[in-house]
Amino acid sequence: MKLISIIFTVFVLFATSSNAKEGSYHGIATAHPIASEVGNEILKNGGNAFDAAVAVSAALAVVEPYASGIGGGGFWLLHRKKDNTTVMIDGREKAPLKAHRNMYLDNKGNFNKKLAIKGALAGGIPGVPAALDHITRKYGRLSLSANLAPAIRLAKDGYQIDDKYRLYAKLRLDSLREDPDTARIFLHNNNVPPEKHVLKQPDLASTLELLATQGAKGFYSGNTAQLLVNGINKGAGIWTLKDLEQYKVVEREPISFTYRGMKISSASPPSSGGIALAEILGMLEKFDLDKMDNIRRKHIIIEAMKRAYADRAQFLGDPDFTSIPVKQLMGDKHISRQAGEIRNNEATPSEFISTYAKPDGNGNDTTHFSIIDHEGNMVSATLSINFPFGACFVPAGTGVLLNNEMDDFAAKPGTPNAYGLIGGEANAIAPGKRPLSSMSPTLITSDNATAVLGTPGGSRIITMVLLAILDFSNGVSAADIVSHRRFHHQYLPDVVMYEDNALTDKEVAALSLLGHRLKRKMSPYGGGQGSYGNMQIVVQHRDGSISAASDPRGHGMTLILSR
Ligand code: GLY
Repeated sequence: MKLISIIFTVFVLFATSSNAKEGSYHGIATAHPIASEVGNEILKNGGNAFDAAVAVSAALAVVEPYASGIGGGGFWLLHRKKDNTTVMIDGREKAPLKAHRNMYLDNKGNFNKKLAIKGALAGGIPGVPAALDHITRKYGRLSLSANLAPAIRLAKDGYQIDDKYRLYAKLRLDSLREDPDTARIFLHNNNVPPEKHVLKQPDLASTLELLATQGAKGFYSGNTAQLLVNGINKGAGIWTLKDLEQYKVVEREPISFTYRGMKISSASPPSSGGIALAEILGMLEKFDLDKMDNIRRKHIIIEAMKRAYADRAQFLGDPDFTSIPVKQLMGDKHISRQAGEIRNNEATPSEFISTYAKPDGNGNDTTHFSIIDHEGNMVSATLSINFPFGACFVPAGTGVLLNNEMDDFAAKPGTPNAYGLIGGEANAIAPGKRPLSSMSPTLITSDNATAVLGTPGGSRIITMVLLAILDFSNGVSAADIVSHRRFHHQYLPDVVMYEDNALTDKEVAALSLLGHRLKRKMSPYGGGQGSYGNMQIVVQHRDGSISAASDPRGHGMTLILSR
């Protein structure tokens, strides 16, 4: 399957990468071939990029249940060509109204991680259904029924699972087994389903049908809402009908800034992505990276990452609850001070970066897709249920796999979450609050091209997008951008994490001598040992031609087709 998608991707790229007429082509890159085909079907049937984004989001909810879903949330960065507007649709989950800051602490005040990552108490109020309705109504051309039809068909008729599904099901097997309704859907005889297993999700199809015909109220009220609340409460969760009734998506202004003459738009709070990227790139602009050797260049990049993540930990959270000093953090005074503190010949230990910083948290699996339609509308969307298979809990009769996004809050400010990130008061739990995210759907515009990109990967999302922006600014091709090996520093733990072959032995030795602590590879997610991320990128060049690439670490597929 993987080989086929890569061959297909390469074929399509070669078939369409040159001499294209402006407006002739559309491009789609998603993490699953079926979802890419769904997007293509919608565009061919008269939908625009926003319709395709709705259809792809819903299809991914069915075919990548380990990554995103209508039980989760996400950020959709939309660029509408006709009025040149870019907006972020914030469909991030919200803490239930009965949530409170100590809800995951035991009677000794210690963080009980299990409660925050599996079962009914781990889930925030989902935002994806409301976002799909909102995007269709406000930006689409087709009806919600038309946009959800492919996902409903897939949920009803089933699709063949792949090895990534099996890998993640194995990882979460014990948790999936804990809830019989969940196990019945996602396992086979209580075990990881065999190869070629066809997964059918009839309850999910019915839930999507209600959403399709009634809009958001078909999910957030009536039968679905009642089933969700019943199921969550049976599992000792705390949702009420009011939580669902009150859920609203928010349109937010993206974070926009420039780097070496390119305009970059990325996710605004409650994502930390845009601000962290602006800070890191702002610091890097103070150095002449092109004149440096690889070791010095990587040292400076790591030092800048560290400093931005320290600010993330201290200042960022839900903007509806926390006052975030966005202008100051992205302002030249702050960035010059941070850059000025970077030492050329020595790593700064994280504990000395900021005496006031107290860090924060984030999740891991997730999905991303990028779309450009023939009119020049663009969508960059990153969606999540947090861990693979989220909370491993499906409220009976809904088919809705619950997210475990509550773990993205700082459950105990100052204590690391499942990903080693720690968070401050700005990201403490409160009723109705959105947890801080790292999801960073991004648009980059240079004189020569516009790129639409993003990736899953929890706290590492931001640094993956950063490395992609640096590559793009150096004219690197879409295929090479998604393939490049990655390295990451998130302030705490004070470690440079890197993929196999991201650093040569010589670089590891030299960076160690500068005082960096380095650790090869990371999570078992995203393509096996030694690698992480699943970037999807579509680039429109100035002549209108399109190139696109799906990360070779995943199973994604790009499609570039003429009208
Ligand atoms: N759950 C992943 C994130 O929002 O960053």
